[in-house]
Amino acid sequence: SSTAEAFRVVKNPNPATDAERAEKLKDLAFGLQFTDHMAHMTWTADGGWGDRRVEPYGPIPMDPAASVLHYAQEVFEGLKAYRWADGSIHLFRPVANAERLQRSSWRMALPELPVEDFMASIDALLELDHAWVPDAPETSLYLRPFLIGTDVFLGLRAPKRVDYLLIASPSGPYFPGGIKPVSIWVERDYHRAGPGGTGAAKCGGNYAASLRPQMAAYERGFDQVLYLDAATNAVLEELGGMNVFAVRKDGTVLTPIINGNILEGVTRKSVIQLVEERDLKVVERDITLAELREGIEDGEITEVFACGTAAIITPVGRIASADFDVTVGDGEPGDVTSAIRQRLTDIQYGRAEDTYGWMTRV
Ligand code: COI
Repeated sequence: SSTAEAFRVVKNPNPATDAERAEKLKDLAFGLQFTDHMAHMTWTADGGWGDRRVEPYGPIPMDPAASVLHYAQEVFEGLKAYRWADGSIHLFRPVANAERLQRSSWRMALPELPVEDFMASIDALLELDHAWVPDAPETSLYLRPFLIGTDVFLGLRAPKRVDYLLIASPSGPYFPGGIKPVSIWVERDYHRAGPGGTGAAKCGGNYAASLRPQMAAYERGFDQVLYLDAATNAVLEELGGMNVFAVRKDGTVLTPIINGNILEGVTRKSVIQLVEERDLKVVERDITLAELREGIEDGEITEVFACGTAAIITPVGRIASADFDVTVGDGEPGDVTSAIRQRLTDIQYGRAEDTYGWMTRV
């Protein structure tokens, strides 16, 4: 196996002062602040991956014909670095993100970034920007690795030049309300994925396509959209930026099965393990909207929650569409949801022993 080559360092001549950084790390929201540097690599069809560097965070000049700007040749990842009480910094399951980035890249005909380079880019960036990992409760440094096609060519083909960048954003809760339950609108007119499509890839286009339904849901007073499958319009998929789980009265936990249309969430996979740890049964299968709705109405389904790297675990308090509107349980976070959230964040923040070997010290 190849070991990653070193990243050369171009230091930011005007990094934030300690006082400026402290100001930016106050009252963190999600995804608004950025560190002083970014990691960068360039791939060419002739030379493969090269030009590893860490450089000042800032605009990336590119040719207006760059393929990402026209044909959305882009894939991305999201993972977090956590500050533990002793000051050390730890990543949650970074190799899972590195491997998913490769699968997404494959689907979009982008070159696969070696796992070693993915890991080395994080190390190289954090070596310079570690002071940006916040320590307030519920905060972390959200890492956003991404690949873009930068070929200067308006024909449609797999790009011959690609850039990989890693930016980092000190962040607080994804939802402004923190962990208060969110409301969900079930979308019947639009789909985020179809059989053979790109639903399993973490590509920018999937998220762009989710914005119109998301805006319509906001206008109706809802926080998020739940998508159904394109083939039957009856089976739950995901929320566009989060996977979904339902908890039954008997303790069984249900979640849509990985079928090529939904994102293989790293948090989803971890939640399944943490549910099983509590001697509860997880069933990955098709869940129909009818089953969800009737189950909530008759009390068979007591909790619903969404999960993702950015959103962690977010309780769902209300689910509606044009023809129904139901409150889940009493509309407050349920016991299983709260317990899994606590357990997951205890591991991530080093408050509990890392029994699964999920954490990687930077
Ligand atoms: C994440 O949870 O990391 C994502 O990439 C979802 C995005 C909507 C923030």
